[in-house]
Amino acid sequence: MTPTPRPGIMDVAPYVGGEAAVPGLNRVVRLASNENPLGASRQAIAAYGALKDELHRYPDGGAHALRGAIGRAHGLDPDRIVCGAGSDELIALLARAYAGPGDEVLHSAHGFLMYALAAKTAGAAPVAAPERALRADVDALAAAANPRTRLVFLANPNNPTGSYLSAAELRRLRDGLPAEALLVIDAAYAEYVDEDDYGDGAALVAACDNVVMLRTFSKIHGLAALRLGWTYCPPAVADVLGRVRGPFNVNAAAQAAGVAALADREHVERARRHNARWRGWLTARLAAAGLHPFPSVGNFLLVRFPDVPGRRADAGLAFLKSRGILVRAMGAYGLPDCLRITVGTEEETRAVADALGGFMAVPARVPTS
Ligand SMILES: Cc1ncc(COP(=O)(O)O)c(C=O)c1O
Repeated sequence: MTPTPRPGIMDVAPYVGGEAAVPGLNRVVRLASNENPLGASRQAIAAYGALKDELHRYPDGGAHALRGAIGRAHGLDPDRIVCGAGSDELIALLARAYAGPGDEVLHSAHGFLMYALAAKTAGAAPVAAPERALRADVDALAAAANPRTRLVFLANPNNPTGSYLSAAELRRLRDGLPAEALLVIDAAYAEYVDEDDYGDGAALVAACDNVVMLRTFSKIHGLAALRLGWTYCPPAVADVLGRVRGPFNVNAAAQAAGVAALADREHVERARRHNARWRGWLTARLAAAGLHPFPSVGNFLLVRFPDVPGRRADAGLAFLKSRGILVRAMGAYGLPDCLRITVGTEEETRAVADALGGFMAVPARVPTS
């Protein structure tokens, strides 16, 4: 007999990541997972390589050097930093520690998919608050909260919409939520944002004992393969996470590469400048081709396709794939008329713009009946 898991687990749809290969093609352009097209810092790669003779050793379970380096780089107290195997692990740990059956976990309608998944895995009910023009709506989130709301997840900037809330709006959101609900500000793309009114959430964490900020090394630091994320949180939350995480949840290579990546400010700055330039270029090219790219402050663009036979998002996805260019379908996010495209290298960004220009130039299919 096959043992049955806890109620609700079989309702969890497995997370489907971005495609990475096309059968029959050796070289593909991977713009489906918001990775850093410039790769990792050379210093981080060297630190990773230097560990090869130490593979028999357990990592430092407290990630002391890494937390110290994060603290110095961001001006934060290392005692309030908890590291995880990607921010995904921290999302799951927060859900498991703070929510369970009978509880609700709130997120915005087109928020990052892992929030609902983590809620369901913990046995809690995910609740989606409507957005306004593909942007989180502070009033709708506050209105959807109730005494059962244990966690509120907000990606800022949000993946996949690319929109963000200002620091003042974040403050207003916190003020509008029940004090018992923990507000999780997921700032995975913070380094890409140039806007003056943006804040990553660290100031709100310092001011409130019911706010945490999540960050990742998977995006601007280009270390997605190593799985490294961190949270800055109130001491009581750090204590809770210290109890529920695995004792060696962050591997030694990730810790060493993370320290080196933080020290390589030039690489981060190069990646930020590259992204700002090519994000703007791609936005203009796609708009000129007749598509609708939404304004984005991240390293990706959400692009709406026309509701015309032969020009819809699914046709665009297949067209790009047939040319070896992989981007992300958005049906799982409730945006089936859109695709999400990561800003790539110059060559990759030109390739996807040219391909979509060609896609839009083909005469639209007119229904025959
Ligand atoms: C908003 C957001 N949060 C978290 C993550 C997960 O990042 P990590 O690789 O650190 O698990 C992603 C990855 O795409 C993301 O878009």
